[in-house]
Amino acid sequence: MHESRTPAHCCLIYNHPRQEGYQNYQLFLRMLKNTLLQAVQAAASEILRFNDLDIKISNKEGINNLVTEVDHASEKAIIDIIKQNFPEHHILSEECGDLVQDSEYKWIIDPIDGTVNFAHRIPICCISIGVEYQKKMVLGAIYNPFINEFFVAERGQGATLNDKPISVSKKENVVNACMVTGFPYTYLDEPNGPLQVFERFIRRGVPVRRLGSAAIDLAWVACGRFDGFYEHKLQAWDSAAGFLLVEEAGGTVTDLNGRPYSPYQPGIIASNGIIHEELVEWVKGNVPAKS
Ligand code: IPD
Ligand code: CA
Ligand code: CA
Repeated sequence: MHESRTPAHCCLIYNHPRQEGYQNYQLFLRMLKNTLLQAVQAAASEILRFNDLDIKISNKEGINNLVTEVDHASEKAIIDIIKQNFPEHHILSEECGDLVQDSEYKWIIDPIDGTVNFAHRIPICCISIGVEYQKKMVLGAIYNPFINEFFVAERGQGATLNDKPISVSKKENVVNACMVTGFPYTYLDEPNGPLQVFERFIRRGVPVRRLGSAAIDLAWVACGRFDGFYEHKLQAWDSAAGFLLVEEAGGTVTDLNGRPYSPYQPGIIASNGIIHEELVEWVKGNVPAKS
């Protein structure tokens, strides 16, 4: 799957992606994608290697915001592969932070999304990596090695689950939707905050799941298992790959006010697109009167 290449070759194309013409650009994209898939596989091997071992767990900011030695091992495996292939690319990764480089390419990495699940041996967690080119997400991959579900999205080329094309659901309204959400580690006591919005759905009998991995939430919207997802406080690495998956699977992603989405601000609403406007109104508190 992975083509052999030297960093020098990558640099040449990286420096002149357009000058060499469309074919070279396509070749470069293929190399990016191969590196992405290889990085995800390497991270998965690290995660599975720790399966039957005791793992060191520590706390980050907040009480139950955990990080394990496996998050670090997964992150190292990913970054080593990116650096071997594209040493000039900018990397933003949850545990090691912003490795700034003057590059049009940026890798946005969550080495384990769903760390609390992982630390409790709940097999709902994944590796999530998005790749930006000129500030636009162009590639995304999410892989849950415990159930072997590998989601990939490429801008303009659709989204797949284990190599098969996926698309969002066709649900037509919010009251009949199956929703998913997540809660931040630090309580947000504000109007239209996580609990208030959650209560709004529960009071109307709308099922709302809470899986504990925003990347998987988004991937499962992309493949139609959920009709919608919202969350108040995510980081870029939580949503970078997942929001591209939803868009490429035919869905819509915005901020909490229905404005164009950027992973560099906290709020997100993702849906099959059909229910999106209505879902934004529910989150904003303009819930239709009960019929
Ligand atoms: C968390 C998960 C969770 C979301 C949190 C994230 P982590 O990421 O995505 O679903 O609710 O806001 O921080 O800490 O497991 O990588
Ligand atoms: Ca995360
Ligand atoms: Ca994480």
